[in-house]
Amino acid sequence: MSDRNLVARPDRNLAMELVRATEAAAIRAVPFIGKGDKLAADGAAVDAMRAFLGTVEFDGVVVIGEGEKDHAPMLFNGEHVGTGRGPQADIAVDPIDGTSMTAQGRQNALAMIAASDRGSMLDASTVFYMDKLVADDRGHGVISLDQSIGDNIRELAKAKGKPVGEMVVAVLDRPRHEPLIEEIRAAGAGTRILLDGDVAGGINAARHGTRIDICVGKGGSPEGVMTACAIKALGGFIEGRLAPSDDAERARGEAAGLVFDRILSADDLVAGDNTMFIATGVTDGGLVDGVRLLGDTIRTESVALRSRSGTFRRIVSEHIADRWL
Ligand code: FBP
Repeated sequence: MSDRNLVARPDRNLAMELVRATEAAAIRAVPFIGKGDKLAADGAAVDAMRAFLGTVEFDGVVVIGEGEKDHAPMLFNGEHVGTGRGPQADIAVDPIDGTSMTAQGRQNALAMIAASDRGSMLDASTVFYMDKLVADDRGHGVISLDQSIGDNIRELAKAKGKPVGEMVVAVLDRPRHEPLIEEIRAAGAGTRILLDGDVAGGINAARHGTRIDICVGKGGSPEGVMTACAIKALGGFIEGRLAPSDDAERARGEAAGLVFDRILSADDLVAGDNTMFIATGVTDGGLVDGVRLLGDTIRTESVALRSRSGTFRRIVSEHIADRWL
């Protein structure tokens, strides 16, 4: 029996407890869906997530949070969360990935948490954007941010044994991506345009049997690190490259010890083999359904991924509605 055998050496799965915090954030965001106030939606989700995190038996430090302490009263970078007992962990929180989508009543908004061993998560908070490339395990040794997107599509199609014309590439719908989208289509592949939410796009690209083969483009750096926590659990492929918007941002990043013009592997984004990713749907999306208010009950759908056990769990919970009044 290998020393990674789970039956011989069962361990605790923190993700199963952290899911209560993403469920709470998603439920509390519901009254704000489609109401046009993204700050109010985010505030309600932050409060709920923080309250539930406080009950979890662990000693967590927020590496990726809502920002600096002065601007973020809660879940700020460096804040300690949990009971302070138990495993020491880094955590990244995004109480709503897709605050604008929530406020507009659009699809694909998620409440998310990622966790890993203390000191293992890249703190990229000084640089807002990162170029990302995500695919499933067949991307290893085949695709790279160093290659053109056309070459990546052709090489991955070969590795997957499917025609280039059937390849689907997910990209955020942003003006900066117009040339990228043209290149994808010129290579003969199709696009899946995401209004927001490249974490879910990345997870779907890294799973077998979904409609997305590659997720590519420039999105948030914090989201890149959170995606890496999920991709490690899936055995998929991810690369990132920090993309500062100007010299001042680059200088801030350098002062914080970040390296530029270098491809960051999954291990650079989050080191080690103990990563977790948890998300609950706020609104319906390609990864999970959003919160359903069913009269007496509230139904949530979540995913909980953990690299050490190699599990992708889908968790459907029914909550008695009057406990949430
Ligand atoms: P927030 O809702 O947390 O702002 O993030 C949504 C999101 O779409 C991320 O998934 C993505 O990485 C990032 O925004 C892209 O940034 P921008 O909207 O500035 O292009």
